[in-house]
Amino acid sequence: MTTTTGTRYVGSALDRVDSLEKVTGQARYAYEYSPRDLVYAVPVQATIARGEIVDVAVDAVLKQPGVIAAIWHANAPRLAPCDDAELALLQSRRVAYRGQYIAVVVAETYEDAREAAGLLRVEYAQEEHDVVLRPDHPRMYRPDHVNPDLRADTERGDPDTALATAPVHVDATYSTPAEHHNPIEPHATVAVWDSEGLTLHDSTQGASALRRVVAPLFGMPPAQVRVISPYVGGGFGSKIDVHPHVVLAALAAKQVGRPVKLAVTRRQMFAVTGYRTPTVQRVRLGAERDGRLIAITHDAYEQSSTLAEFAEQAAAASRTMYAAPHRRTTHRLVRLDVPTPTYMRAPGEAPGMFALESAMDELAIACGVDPVELRVRNEPATDPDTGLPFSSRNLVACLREGARRFGWAARDPEPGTRRRGRLLVGTGVAASTYPVYRAPSSASARAEPDGWFTVRIAAADIGTGSRTILTQIAADALRTSPELVRMEIGDSALPKAPVAGGSMGSASWGTAVVRACEALMEELERRGGVVPPTGVESSADTTKEVREEAKFARHAYGAQFAEVGVDPDTGETRVLRLLGVFAAGRILNPKTARSQFIGGMTMGLSMALLEESIMDREFGDYLNRDLAQYHIAANADVRDIEAVWLEEEDPHLNPMGAKGIGEIGIVGTAAAVANAVHHATGIRIRDLPIRLDKLV
Ligand code: MOS
Repeated sequence: MTTTTGTRYVGSALDRVDSLEKVTGQARYAYEYSPRDLVYAVPVQATIARGEIVDVAVDAVLKQPGVIAAIWHANAPRLAPCDDAELALLQSRRVAYRGQYIAVVVAETYEDAREAAGLLRVEYAQEEHDVVLRPDHPRMYRPDHVNPDLRADTERGDPDTALATAPVHVDATYSTPAEHHNPIEPHATVAVWDSEGLTLHDSTQGASALRRVVAPLFGMPPAQVRVISPYVGGGFGSKIDVHPHVVLAALAAKQVGRPVKLAVTRRQMFAVTGYRTPTVQRVRLGAERDGRLIAITHDAYEQSSTLAEFAEQAAAASRTMYAAPHRRTTHRLVRLDVPTPTYMRAPGEAPGMFALESAMDELAIACGVDPVELRVRNEPATDPDTGLPFSSRNLVACLREGARRFGWAARDPEPGTRRRGRLLVGTGVAASTYPVYRAPSSASARAEPDGWFTVRIAAADIGTGSRTILTQIAADALRTSPELVRMEIGDSALPKAPVAGGSMGSASWGTAVVRACEALMEELERRGGVVPPTGVESSADTTKEVREEAKFARHAYGAQFAEVGVDPDTGETRVLRLLGVFAAGRILNPKTARSQFIGGMTMGLSMALLEESIMDREFGDYLNRDLAQYHIAANADVRDIEAVWLEEEDPHLNPMGAKGIGEIGIVGTAAAVANAVHHATGIRIRDLPIRLDKLV
């Protein structure tokens, strides 16, 4: 069996195959489906953070114009028990967090439903809530594992003794705030029941996974649920797990016997579709005077909800980044009266590498070693965590190339000494990394009698360009041109595929597409190239191939360089230049790849300077409600941003030779910016975001 595809279209800057649909408004997103007899659902959210619902005055709102139903615990259909208590919608009187869905009003129009939902009176028995993360919380515990299935704690050697005796030390505690994803397209579901079962038009990062989770709640096999999601306007991880609104829409549609449309408003998103946990992280480094590490410890503290455990792998990257004989990482969690956190672009690596890469900068200063040189000196020969060889590792090459392009050599390490006009200016560097995952997938490929090919897979394109990339991969495997390939994705009726998450979409789906196309080519060869009027179809499932892959440590790497200007009077920080150099295997499409890299870096810049969800201790939920209160980087914040990549041949990955690129761009950016701010001002910011009040 061949292990590499041809290279005619993979690697070329093909325009998005769905660009016309998108710019002409023909691409239909979940909310735009309007089946006959449609009604609208507007959820009602809890206004207490902990307690019980005593009563909901549904009768009063049923008299409102257009109202069809008002559903809460007392009159809701019963769902089958499930592992994720977040999805047991209206199954209990308990309130687990402020903003939790506790009722839903269904009406003929959205306006009627919204009006009535606003009038619904809810009586609570309120209890005292506990919503603030602190590392010394008495209920802090060690989770069994951290995302995705990593050990919570690791230890090698004797880090305590090594730290006590090392000539140079860093011991610093960093913190990152809760952050909310805010994709352009908020979550939405249109739920339709018929004799076949349930159809969900949903904005999701994985149609197959959503079906698998929702079906059992309604006592059905997965085949009786169909999820249709051809276009998704961003996700950043908030559309991987099934969130309560999906179940609420399906439950409401079942109750009223009509199709239901439910839009999660941006306001509601701050409570019900997940967020990045806040973290507190203590990093200790012990080193020789020349900067060579002797010991690394990284202890991460995070929160989850009382309903579900989500443990972010914040210390995981510290297991594998640098050589050091003595090392320890730990993760601790406290379950508070808050919504359940979830994956957000580079969960774990993004906050974790802010801490580690800030600490490395502090170590560089403590040793008097250049920060690029410090990282080069600590390059491991094999994976320090597992002892496995790296499939490829080009961190040093990224650092060197970045330093060259950025003009790093001329850097004076002295902080707080350079002025440009009224600004204090400085530069900083940090490393990026993200693991290479691949999950089992299936796909089918069909030769049509008219010379076309149809390739089917329940993949998701969340705006990243995966529909385009899979078309390129299929075209090469079929030795045809992309114009002759119809790529069908975003539908659970298509061959089962993993979610668009973990930067593993292209690797997982691409492998299945290649294998299905190879099988089809063999079949066509057997038939002497003759395609019958009914067409010829082949399919593939990569479960065996993925499970049997050789043991390597597989990671993508990068180096990010930032130049900042800080106004010493106002504390206002601007990122003047941002350069990322990445080594991520073969780049499948330079156009979409550049978008992914600079998109990640922009989100990293945003994380560094702006993004912050603030817990209201009194009421017990996040105060932020919209993009006026939750600041994200806008065009004016992003000035000179550049992403480049190195040629990297890695035969140990997948038929495309590609590492994932969706998440690595956000990893390390915040540390590069914070390190530059220190270089500019002499002030070390260890608590994100780098707000102006922390600098004056
Ligand atoms: Mo990503 S947080 O796995 O969408």
